[in-house]
Amino acid sequence: MSASSAPTPQLDPLPVLKGLAGLRRLMGTYPSGHPMIAQKLRELDEAVRHHLRTGPELRIDVIHGNVHLDGVSFESTDPSAAQIVRELADLGIDSLYIREGVDAAELSRVAEFLWQPRKADESTEAQLLERDIRHVSLGKLVALDTRWRSQGWPDAPFGPLDPTYAESLVIAQQTFEDTAAGKQIDTVTIKDLVQLLIHKVARSNAALSQILAVKQYENLTYAHSVNVAMVSLLIGRQVGLDESSISAIVEAALLHDIGKTKIPLEIVKKPGALSKRERAQIEAHTTFGAEILAQTDGLLPLTPTVALEHHRSVKGSGYPDLGTDVPHIMSQMVSVADIYEALTGARSYQDPTLPDRACLILARLAGEKLNTFLVKAFVSAITFFPLGSVVRTSRGEIGVVVSTNASEPLHPVLAIADEQIRTPRGRVNTAERGASGSYEYHVLETLRPPENFDVTPFLAA
Ligand SMILES: [Fe+2]
Repeated sequence: MSASSAPTPQLDPLPVLKGLAGLRRLMGTYPSGHPMIAQKLRELDEAVRHHLRTGPELRIDVIHGNVHLDGVSFESTDPSAAQIVRELADLGIDSLYIREGVDAAELSRVAEFLWQPRKADESTEAQLLERDIRHVSLGKLVALDTRWRSQGWPDAPFGPLDPTYAESLVIAQQTFEDTAAGKQIDTVTIKDLVQLLIHKVARSNAALSQILAVKQYENLTYAHSVNVAMVSLLIGRQVGLDESSISAIVEAALLHDIGKTKIPLEIVKKPGALSKRERAQIEAHTTFGAEILAQTDGLLPLTPTVALEHHRSVKGSGYPDLGTDVPHIMSQMVSVADIYEALTGARSYQDPTLPDRACLILARLAGEKLNTFLVKAFVSAITFFPLGSVVRTSRGEIGVVVSTNASEPLHPVLAIADEQIRTPRGRVNTAERGASGSYEYHVLETLRPPENFDVTPFLAA
C-alpha cells in the first residue's frame, strides 16, 4: 500500500469460520462426496483464498470472546458471529491459522478432523500431521487458559536505550504509578515530559528506532503511552499540525490510557478469555480516564476527549457507546498510533507483528475503523520498514534501516550488517536506480532483531 487511493477491501473472517463449521456439520450428516459437501468446500476454499491473496498467512483468534483477524479485533454486525464463535469454543478451538499452500482437500481433512472424536493423549499438532494437514494450525483453549504461551516477554523496553527515551520512560512510569496510588496528576511533570518528547526524543533516531521497529517486550501502560505519544507526534507532523497542536496531541496520547491505572493489573494483562464483567472493566478505562483527566486542572481541553474516544471507530462503533458520533480528529490520530504500537509489541498471547505487516493491517482497517487519510499519513511518516528495522535484501545481505523516505516507503537507506548484526559494513540507498532505470536493491523481508540488538553503531555508520 503506497499512498495509493484504491480502497483496501475489508476482509471478513466470518465466511472462513462459518464455512469450516458448516462443512464439519455436513460431514457428520451426509456421506463423503455428497454435492452439499462439495459446495460447502468450494465456498470455504474460496473464502480462504480470498484472504491469502493479501498475505502468506490467515490468522483468526478468538481472544476475550472476540474474533481477531491477524491480531486485530474484528467487530461483526452479523448476528450469527456469536453462534459460530460458541460452536468453535465448544469444539475447544479458539485459533485457526491457515498458511499459503493449503488446498481444498486439506481443508476438507481439517473439517473431518473437527468432526471426529480426538485422541486425548495426543497433541492436536501430531493429530493434524497424521492426517497430512501441514498448512493449518488449530489452537485449543483448555481449562484455566494454560494453552496461552507464556513467552516470558520482558515487561518493559530493555537493552541499550536512547538516554532521552529512557528518561521519558522513567518519568512516565512514576506518573502512572502515582495515579494508580490515587495521587493527582502532576501537570507540571506532564508538560515537561511533553517537551522532552517533542524536543529530544523525537530528534533522536535511536529513540525513534526503539519505538517504531518491532518491540520484543510486553509493555506496561506507561511504555505503551510514551510510544503512542511519539507515533502520534509523527502523524501530526506528517499532516502538518502546528506546534501548539503537536503539544496537544502528544499530551493527549501520553494520557489516553491513564484510566487503566484504575483497573487491576491482572485483568489488564490477562491472556485468554475474559468474563463479561472483566471485559466491561477493561472497556471502562476510557470513561475512567476521561473522568480523571477532566478533574485535573491545567491539562489541554482535548486530553479527556481523546481518552474517552480512542477505542471508537470513524463509523461511530466501538466503545464506549456514544451513539453515532464520529470521534474528534485527534482521537482518530491516537487510534492509528495506538493500534500500530499494540501490534508491534509482544503480548503474552501473541508474538509481536513486524512493522510492514502491521502497516498492511492498518490499511485493512482504513475506512471502517480508522481514518483512511490518517492511515496513509502514518505509513508515509514511518514507511513499511521504519527506522531501526532489521531487514534482508534481494542480494541476501542483512541491513539495518538508518533513514527512510516518505516518497519511497519500500526503499529505505540501509547500513549493511555483519552476520551477527553487531557491526555496520557500509551503507546502501535502496531507492537508487541503476543505469537501466530499475532498482538495484529490494528489501525482501523484516527480520526479528537479535537479543540485545543495539541500533546505535548502525545509525552512526
Ligand atoms: Fe486504550
